[in-house]
Amino acid sequence: MSDASHKLDKTLVLVGLMGCGKSSVGRRLAARLGVGFVDTDDEIVLSAGMSIPEIFDRLGERAFRDGEVKVISRLLAGPPGIMATGGGAFISPLVRAEVERAAISVWLRADIETLWERVKDKPGRPLLAGDDARIVLERLMKERYPVYAAADIVVDTHAENTHEVVVNDILQGVARFVAQQKENK
Ligand code: S3P
Repeated sequence: MSDASHKLDKTLVLVGLMGCGKSSVGRRLAARLGVGFVDTDDEIVLSAGMSIPEIFDRLGERAFRDGEVKVISRLLAGPPGIMATGGGAFISPLVRAEVERAAISVWLRADIETLWERVKDKPGRPLLAGDDARIVLERLMKERYPVYAAADIVVDTHAENTHEVVVNDILQGVARFVAQQKENK
């Protein structure tokens, strides 16, 4: 796909576990395609006026998840662009249905070492705030990977890949997916 000629008809929704690079890759992808970028975590923080740890702490995870569904539905009604989602968003059947209807989903699949290296010293993720963070991350991989696998496109990402490599792999995956959809029509 030539970047200049590619017109994004649908939003690309990046899904995957904490630390897989949704936000950093998403920003680069948006710049490359000349479209807008949005991070759903940032939008939730903005509309709640609280950080994610504060939302979990004061309102509870349920409220955060409700906010996630609302924000994603609202953003999907806007112009096509790149959307990075929080790691738990695509686990919601409601979110998956919305994404399936209105967007193309891309799972950034990473191994535990890649994820752990990226999240281990970074605060701000309530699910990984305890001493057992690595065990929690491993458990979330087991629980969530079968669900992320429902994404339209799967792109593998490793610690040694640059974001540029991942962006190229996503663009190739999207081109293949769009061509396949046209064939199936
Ligand atoms: C979460 C992932 C976080 C954030 C929240 C919950 C999850 O986003 O939405 O802490 O359930 O996996 P990132 O995946 O961007 O870290």
